[in-house]
Amino acid sequence: MKINVSPSTMLNPVPVVMVSCAGKNPDHPETRPNILTVAWAGTVNSEPPMVSVSIRKSRHSHELICQTQEFVINLVTKKLAKACDYCGVRSGANEDKFLKLELTPQEAPGLSYAPQIAESPVSISCKLRDIIELGSHDMFLAEVVGVSVDEKLMDEKGKICLEKAGLIAYCHGEYFTLGEMLGFFGYSVASKEALKRRMPPKKSKKSNKK
Ligand SMILES: Cc1cc2nc3c(=O)[nH]c(=O)nc-3n(C[C@H](O)[C@H](O)[C@H](O)COP(=O)(O)O)c2cc1C
Repeated sequence: MKINVSPSTMLNPVPVVMVSCAGKNPDHPETRPNILTVAWAGTVNSEPPMVSVSIRKSRHSHELICQTQEFVINLVTKKLAKACDYCGVRSGANEDKFLKLELTPQEAPGLSYAPQIAESPVSISCKLRDIIELGSHDMFLAEVVGVSVDEKLMDEKGKICLEKAGLIAYCHGEYFTLGEMLGFFGYSVASKEALKRRMPPKKSKKSNKK
């Protein structure tokens, strides 16, 4: 039996990302490069590639993104999890989070102000298209104008092997690593050959027999 609970943001799991941004003057403490953590992020269109991040007006980053109309979505790995959490509980209005966390701001393709985080394996450069005021959050709708991927994630054919990145997810207030691969797009109807080629070999159950 399922129990009806009050309506809330129960959609889980979601990606948790580090959004980097900056104002027009990177040398001024109020507009220096900054990072905030965002769980309300999503892909909203394929052609052109578009994403959204929902940010409260009270966040320091809200003002920076409005100023330059740019931001970068940086994917988060297990290694970056603690820094990601920190960026979600401390404000860039009071400190330089790049400096504090020893993260490196690096030029992002297609953007003039917002830096990418060099330590993130995948950084998505975004240009603001629209701001939709929803209530608690403003949804920043943006077009993807560039993507930077760690070369170590590319195989010899140039395929991006994201499964090697060690990405994390966010589920009901907690961070998780991703588990085993269960299948691929269309695997429920794939041919035996495709399954053999693309599915990881099944782990053999350990026998207790001696
Ligand atoms: C896991 C996690 C997810 C968060 N998701 C969001 C979000 O989607 N939108 C938002 O406005 N704030 C979110 N926050 C809170 C901001 O990241 C936090 O208030 C941050 O300190 C704002 O930084 P800033 O003032 O430097 O912009 C989240 C925090 C955490 C820890």
